[in-house]
Amino acid sequence: MADTVLRVVVALLLGASPFARADCGAPNAAEMQEAEALYLPTPHPVVEAMLRLARVSGNDIVYDLGSGDGRIPIAAARTYGARGVGIELDGRMIERARCNAREAGVERLVEFRRQDLFVADLAEATVVTLFLFPGMNLKLRPRLLRELRPGTRIVSLRFGLGDWLPERTIEADGHPLLLWTVP
Ligand SMILES: C[S@@+](CC[C@H](N)C(=O)[O-])C[C@H]1O[C@@H](n2cnc3c(N)ncnc32)[C@H](O)[C@@H]1O
Repeated sequence: MADTVLRVVVALLLGASPFARADCGAPNAAEMQEAEALYLPTPHPVVEAMLRLARVSGNDIVYDLGSGDGRIPIAAARTYGARGVGIELDGRMIERARCNAREAGVERLVEFRRQDLFVADLAEATVVTLFLFPGMNLKLRPRLLRELRPGTRIVSLRFGLGDWLPERTIEADGHPLLLWTVP
């Protein structure tokens, strides 16, 4: 019940439309209900703001943990020439992300792995992006601190990392974005 309420609230906050369709397909309401875990896409202007906040460049390897339709790694590759890696549990999302990457012409720069983000190898990331439930962020935090190299930037949409306070918080189109750098 609490999950359902959180889904609706976050969807409303994001203004997400489950009915939008793109060439590679967009999830419909039924798919969103069926998904093993909540899927809500980050609005494109907010994606761009996340990448700017992380100061992404062509030297970066951007990991999106729970990558959905792949929009964050794809934007990092398209806008900055960065390498992008998406980790996603849902096989339909992986297919959609690969299709979106082909359509954007960045399939050589991005990779989508069907994997649980809690066991994925994160060591090569220089930027990590998150749009996950608060409890998932908390569960991830020890791994982020242990496995990411010093200097790696982490940007989270909306939710924090417990008592590891962000060094910067900004708003993008009304959505809070939080930034950390791994010490
Ligand atoms: C709120 S959506 C965000 C999608 C994308 N990052 C974006 O910003 O548009 C969260 C995504 O995380 C995925 N997810 C949830 N738990 C996961 C897990 N344990 N491992 C991998 N992906 C997961 C969901 O399937 C969903 O696509």
